[in-house]
Order: sequence, then C-alpha cells, then structure tokens
Amino acid sequence: MKEYILSNGKKVVIRKAEKKDAEELIKFINIISYESDFLTFEPGELKLTKELEESIIEECYNSDNKLFLIAEIEGEIVGNLSFKGSNRRRLKHAGEFGISVKKEYWNMGIASQLIKELIEWAKSSGIIKKINLKVREDNERAINLYRKFGFIEEGKISKEFYVNGKYYSTILMGLEI
Ligand SMILES: CC(C)(COP(=O)(O)OP(=O)(O)OC[C@H]1O[C@@H](n2cnc3c(N)ncnc32)[C@H](O)[C@@H]1OP(=O)(O)O)[C@@H](O)C(=O)NCCC(=O)NCCS
Repeated sequence: MKEYILSNGKKVVIRKAEKKDAEELIKFINIISYESDFLTFEPGELKLTKELEESIIEECYNSDNKLFLIAEIEGEIVGNLSFKGSNRRRLKHAGEFGISVKKEYWNMGIASQLIKELIEWAKSSGIIKKINLKVREDNERAINLYRKFGFIEEGKISKEFYVNGKYYSTILMGLEI
C-alpha cells in the first residue's frame, strides 16, 4: 500500500484490490464507461456481477504474474489498473494492462502513480520481463503518459476499434523489465 498527497491536499491510497472491493469496483467501471470513448466497452455494456468481480480480484490477489490495483480517495475508488500475465509457462513472463481514472480526477497524477507501482511490482516479481498495452491511436493523453514511463511503440492493429460509426487502429506499446 502506498499513500501520497495531491496538489489539492487530498490523500490518495494505492493498494491491491480485495474481494470486499467488488461492488464498489462494479460501480466505478459503470461510471467510467460513460466518461470515455477510448475504452473497449460501451456505456453500461459490461454486465459484471459481484461473484464474477470477486473471482477476478481473487485470481489476481493470489497470482505471481497478475496485479489488480486501485486508487482510493477518502474510501472512494477513483482509479484502477489491471495487469494479467499468461498462465502458460512460455508466456507467463509477459502481460497486458488496462488503466482508468474517474474523469473528475484526470491530470492529477493518479494514473502515473498506478503505473509506477506496476513497474516496481514487475521489477521485484522476478517473473515479469515485459509489460504490454494497447491504446487507441488518437488517445494522445494515454500515449504521452506511457511514453513518459519508457513504453515504446511496437506495432499497430488496424480497424480494431469501431466507435460512433468510425474505425480506429490501436497502437501496441511495450516496456521491457
Ligand atoms: C489516460 C488516463 C488513465 C490518464 O489518467 P490521469 O490520472 O489523468 O494521468 P496522469 O495525471 O498521471 O498523467 C497525465 C499525463 O497525460 C498526458 N496529458 C495530459 N493532458 C494531455 C493532453 N491534453 N494531451 C496530451 N497528453 C496529455 C501527460 O503526459 C500527463 O503527464 P504529465 O502530467 O506528467 O505531463 C485517464 O485520462 C483515463 O482514464 N482516460 C480514459 C480511459 C483511458 O483512456 N484509458 C487508457 C486506455 S489505453
């Protein structure tokens, strides 16, 4: 668990998600689904149940190559990051992550803290040697954020997103550990 103070004086706690967070996480995911077109799911599209969310959290909690982090302010979930390495031995050193922060908390450094924590965890894991991600080609805010942490562009998948009648490519980015 890590704590730090935002410029507005509020305390942010970064910690691993626990089973008891399942219901709040479902509410959080529903809220962010309405706040950004850069996500892979549409507003209200994910029909998550408490049981499903609990099993996802538990799988990460007990794994040496999966990580589910949340950022909290005064008990409210304001951000999450989920990284999954493969269960196969030939692939288990690498994984992909996704990240989101509630819109009212953008540009306060919360995603940066989550990514910093992911990289520290990966370095100390002794297992993870590669962190990958996919980002919509026009998501400049996210691309800048990843570059800041040393992620480099490794490829492109055309027409992966279809949003509001338009196709978008995704960029593959990676960081060797
Ligand atoms: C992308 C996202 C996670 C960033 O979260 P955040 O907490 O606002 O990020 P931070 O405050 O740590 O960092 C913001 C960084 O974005 C970049 N940035 C901010 N505003 C920007 C702008 N207008 N144009 C380009 N880059 C910008 C900068 O690199 C900035 O880092 P800096 O403050 O060190 O300069 C958040 O905007 C979000 O949840 N977006 C919707 C979902 C999403 O796109 N997820 C990623 C999918 S791949």
